[in-house]
Amino acid sequence: MSALTRRSFLSGTASGLLARTSSACAESRSANLTLPFLWGAATAGYQTEGNSTNADIWLLERMAGTVFKERSGRADDFYTRYHQDIVLLASLGLNSFRFSVEWSRIEPEPGVISHEAIAHYRDMLRVCHEHNLIPCVTYSHFACPLWFSARGGWEAPDAADHFLRYCELASRSFGDLIGTAAVFNEPDLHKLILHGSPLSDRKKEIMLAQAAKSCHSPVFGYYLSGDAQCIEAAMISAYLRAYDVIKSGPGLYPLGLTLAMTDDQAVGDPLMRDRKRTEIYDAWLHACREKGDFIGVQVYTRSLTGPNGTVAPPADSRFTTMGWEFYPECVEGACRYAASVSQRPVIVTENGIATDDDTERQDYIRRAVESLNRAIADGIDIRGYYHWSFLDSFEWASGYKPRMGLVAVNRETEERTAKQSAFLLGNMRPDRFVSWKL
Ligand code: BGC
Repeated sequence: MSALTRRSFLSGTASGLLARTSSACAESRSANLTLPFLWGAATAGYQTEGNSTNADIWLLERMAGTVFKERSGRADDFYTRYHQDIVLLASLGLNSFRFSVEWSRIEPEPGVISHEAIAHYRDMLRVCHEHNLIPCVTYSHFACPLWFSARGGWEAPDAADHFLRYCELASRSFGDLIGTAAVFNEPDLHKLILHGSPLSDRKKEIMLAQAAKSCHSPVFGYYLSGDAQCIEAAMISAYLRAYDVIKSGPGLYPLGLTLAMTDDQAVGDPLMRDRKRTEIYDAWLHACREKGDFIGVQVYTRSLTGPNGTVAPPADSRFTTMGWEFYPECVEGACRYAASVSQRPVIVTENGIATDDDTERQDYIRRAVESLNRAIADGIDIRGYYHWSFLDSFEWASGYKPRMGLVAVNRETEERTAKQSAFLLGNMRPDRFVSWKL
């Protein structure tokens, strides 16, 4: 890390650094980029913005017999409160903010562009730079426009064309302000879930059938359901094309994808564990190896597999509000596997705990960061860590009960209160810089 680059980040701020590097590289479209070790907190649009009325999940929340425990409603009202929230995040000592831009806001109807939504996201990015935060943007975080899902979602033959048109528009509209980005959030999640639970989820099927009916469509393609293999193939091909589309737009930043992972440990013979990892992750890890500047690892707990399949956690384990084993050391194992198969640098794009007890969260963070540091010390190329989540927010089907935020949100008043864990994480920010070859 040269003194010059280091100074340019510290004095010139994140935007100064990015602008300088991009203009220096505008001609060649490839370069070395130096970024600080990313130390941030993450959110997603649907879970925080509120009133995402054009998204498919908004409809699913309202179906009779829905699997959603409660409705997202105005969520954290982040769509209007983003300015104060970004200032708060920066004040904690973090240097990066991961959030998603919402396709259903940008393109509420096929081919109809919301200039208001584009201006909104441009302003969010601007505010991040103003407060020395490197914005990490997720182009697609689970929620899709209702019109996209009603056409069959990722199972529709022209799904990728629609998605690529959106990627091109988003990248052209605000790519110059992006610091780092992921095309998809956890496109492997449905496979991970199918592996750990009974194949048929009757309640979910009924809900999706109702959604299809209410949209006068033969199928409703929310991407956590449907034919996992067919969806995976369609999304991998879309990812590879999206990588090129986004890279040919403005801005020069690391671009990759994020995966839902567990730290998969073998009990006895590792054969079944290895098979499981291969089935869930490898197609995506290979896609990232083919085209990807980093692999985003999202890991919350471990999973044990023996010769006969999944093994229950030890009897004395404690569990988080999500029902997951408290196992902060999961970071190390998941990063090792992702790095070894993808051969790409790793960013931990999500890691955290659902708990009402912030002391427990602090304990989790300390142990997770120790685990991260062990992997780094052992030579794994890890370039950042984002805690999930910045705010207590809408936990999808589980509603608002699981609290994963570094910052509490009063559901009545929307008032924010930073928890001790937020300051702990901010104070642990490493003073390290990493060189990217893009
Ligand atoms: C998702 C987040 C979610 C978190 C905790 C990840 O699967 O990317 O949207 O809130 O896990 O459940």
